[in-house]
Amino acid sequence: MGMGEFIDQVARSGLSGKGGAGFPSVVKMERFAFQPGQRKCLVVNGSEHEPGSMKDRYLLESHARTVLEGALCLAAKLGASEVWFAVNENSEAAIRSIKHEVEAFNAEQLGAAYVLSDIALHVDRVPDHYIVGEETALLEALEGRTAMPRKRPPFPIESGLFGVPTLVHNVETVAHVPYIVLFGGDHHRTLGDAGKGMTLCTLGDEFVNAGVHLVPLGIPVRELLYGIGKGLRSGERIVAVQPGGPSSGFLTEQDFECSFDHVALAAAGSALGCAAVRAYGEGTDMVRVMVEVASFFEEGSCGQCPQCRMETRMLAAILRQFAAGKGSEKLLQQIPKVIDANVSKGICGLIKMPVAPVLTGLHKFEGEFRKLYGTNAASQRDNKTSG
Ligand SMILES: Cc1cc2nc3c(=O)[nH]c(=O)nc-3n(C[C@H](O)[C@H](O)[C@H](O)COP(=O)(O)O)c2cc1C
Ligand code: SF4
Repeated sequence: MGMGEFIDQVARSGLSGKGGAGFPSVVKMERFAFQPGQRKCLVVNGSEHEPGSMKDRYLLESHARTVLEGALCLAAKLGASEVWFAVNENSEAAIRSIKHEVEAFNAEQLGAAYVLSDIALHVDRVPDHYIVGEETALLEALEGRTAMPRKRPPFPIESGLFGVPTLVHNVETVAHVPYIVLFGGDHHRTLGDAGKGMTLCTLGDEFVNAGVHLVPLGIPVRELLYGIGKGLRSGERIVAVQPGGPSSGFLTEQDFECSFDHVALAAAGSALGCAAVRAYGEGTDMVRVMVEVASFFEEGSCGQCPQCRMETRMLAAILRQFAAGKGSEKLLQQIPKVIDANVSKGICGLIKMPVAPVLTGLHKFEGEFRKLYGTNAASQRDNKTSG
């Protein structure tokens, strides 16, 4: 299969990035293939610090050969001279497993008829911090510097690792490639009940059937929660869900017929993201959940953009005030103002990440916020009366 045929098969498969944004993979691959230069890099992003996501670790631990084959297909067909597997430093088993496959492959190459040994393979540990997963921060980490996102342009496709054209793909995206090559793009796209292909998702520990599952894209969210996930261990009814990690908007029961795919979830104000699914039962304090989400992004910000520092800190601080019973109508009204003043002003996508969960949470759990505010107002009134 030549480069043109390979790109055509990926296009037919409809493969989209599994690292979170869901960008059509073929667009990046094609642009990379036509970049000039002898030295070009493929970086396989296995940093996976997203809370609840385990799919990349699972693939590297249990299907490292598939990940390696996918990377070799991409490198051979798109003209990468180097492949870098960037793995979270805390995923010891994943690092061992991919290293083992790389060594075994290098040994197989000695004396093989069709030699791929001109593709240099590297396995590198990268720090266990959320921002390291952002592709340009990852490149900084691989170059031995502090992982902070780079300003764009230039984009990594033009000037990435060590200043050469670089294609960055998530581990799962890469793992789909051998199957597209083996069975063809059309076949890959029609896998699954809804004919939209398959994706890995991680169901949180709160599910009866927790863990990593290969699921058809396009099934109703309800089917995922109660059919595949078998509901909550606690036996509670599920009242809210984040289907794509902490940056995805909250869905509530009226949204559960929505399809589990990029387009439908985005239309419902949420996202497929990296498909780390968290579900919340009827007894959950949703304001506290929102505090945890906002605090995660506050801690995850690398701090180089003042607007991101300000936005993530203020959102977390306001939500903490509510959780502590010190909310007010004025504080509630500050939230959209903080977002509007900052959101498009960051170097990387992290600055946008708390927006969907905070805004959908405010809208969907408004009653809980008002109750806290109401309680506070009532206690202030009581204090005044008793004073
Ligand atoms: C704050 C932040 C964290 C990210 N973390 C990850 C990650 O852990 N793994 C990942 O594959 N992509 C992550 N991404 C997305 C990457 O920047 C990049 O888009 C992705 O690795 C490209 O691969 P794909 O096209 O196969 O999805 C993150 C992005 C941002 C803004
Ligand atoms: S937007 Fe936030 S996380 Fe991204 S580079 Fe700026 S400060 Fe760092």
